[in-house]
Amino acid sequence: MIRINENYTKLKASYLFSDIAKRVSAYVAANPSKPIIRLGIGDVTEPLPKVCLDALHAATDEMGARATFKGYGPEQGYAFLRDAIAQHDYAARGCKIESDEIFISDGAKCDCGNIQEIFGADIKLAIPDPVYPVYIDTNVMAGRTGANVDGRYAGVTYLDSTPANGYVPAIPSVATDLIYLCFPNNPTGAVATKAQLAAWVAYAKKNKAIILFDSAYEAYIRDPQIPHSIYEIEGARDVALEFRSFSKTAGFTGTRCAYLVVPKTVMAYDAAGNAHPVHALWNRRHSTKFNGVAYPIQKAAAAIYTDAGKQQTKALIDFYLGNAKLIREAVKSWGFTCTGGDNAPYLWINTGRDSWEFFDLLLNKAQVVCTPGAGFGKCGEGHVRISAFNSRENVETALARIGAALK
Ligand code: MLT
Repeated sequence: MIRINENYTKLKASYLFSDIAKRVSAYVAANPSKPIIRLGIGDVTEPLPKVCLDALHAATDEMGARATFKGYGPEQGYAFLRDAIAQHDYAARGCKIESDEIFISDGAKCDCGNIQEIFGADIKLAIPDPVYPVYIDTNVMAGRTGANVDGRYAGVTYLDSTPANGYVPAIPSVATDLIYLCFPNNPTGAVATKAQLAAWVAYAKKNKAIILFDSAYEAYIRDPQIPHSIYEIEGARDVALEFRSFSKTAGFTGTRCAYLVVPKTVMAYDAAGNAHPVHALWNRRHSTKFNGVAYPIQKAAAAIYTDAGKQQTKALIDFYLGNAKLIREAVKSWGFTCTGGDNAPYLWINTGRDSWEFFDLLLNKAQVVCTPGAGFGKCGEGHVRISAFNSRENVETALARIGAALK
């Protein structure tokens, strides 16, 4: 008899954003004349930068000619892209990352979800709350979390992010093995200082642990004091992997391209305490289960590192940050406090009200979709997340509608 992986029964019935999409579809079906504005899922709305589009067209033409056609590429990504990343995202910030420590993939979501496979089934996890659901759900699927009791998994050390700590969690008092951190944070938009990250690196070293640092929103950082990469912290090369994405930086949510940095100096241990380079394990996993991102997509991604590409992506991000500023101002005028929106595309609004009720209020009274904080974890209760990804016109209309609905 074929059996299921029973760990799946410990999950919430559906993935947060699928759940929201279902509720919104039901509303739209019942109210076809009321146009919806989506500020829920963090999906970009502006077209690809011109440099990316030109590179995509040119590379597609190459695929159509015998002399330049390409079949399977290297599973880890083409050298032209890995070299550009090493130079522009790391060397330029004083971080020592080699090209062959960069693995190109089809998304940071996939990387975040897949990485846990190479670690033991009985390791101890430290996971933020609120959290990007992928970190926790993929560990539930792998059987690492124990049962869900009152909305929390018994075997997880939760890193509470609350108004009291400015949504930057404290170092746990217990030892853990695998620590998920995300800055600028999804969902809170909070950022971490160098000193805060240095404390995490020291904790990981002390416990022979690994930090999984999700830096998918780093391009939104405007405060020059805030680090863009965990590798700006001394010693991080020994204990941290970093996830990055072209999705929110250059509008690649639909085209798919991201990368994972695995320094050769990061070690994990077998039961006898022998050290194994995580780079070799990940390379084995990646080349066994993945065949590389499409050549034209990698060409389009590499185009963001040209001078014109840098200008165009900066303009794109400035545009979304302009939306975020309007949202911040409006949130204040509604009498709520919020974090994010200055170095991140998300605003985390402390409404003090039940978050699904607030979601329903915005949907029913303003036809605006947000994300209920409780969907990201217990500490998300009392909050909603509003994303700055939309056209200026839609953001302005949404804010006017919410303002009216809250009166
Ligand atoms: C979100 O809304 O949190 C994002 O879309 C997550 C993602 O990039 O998968």
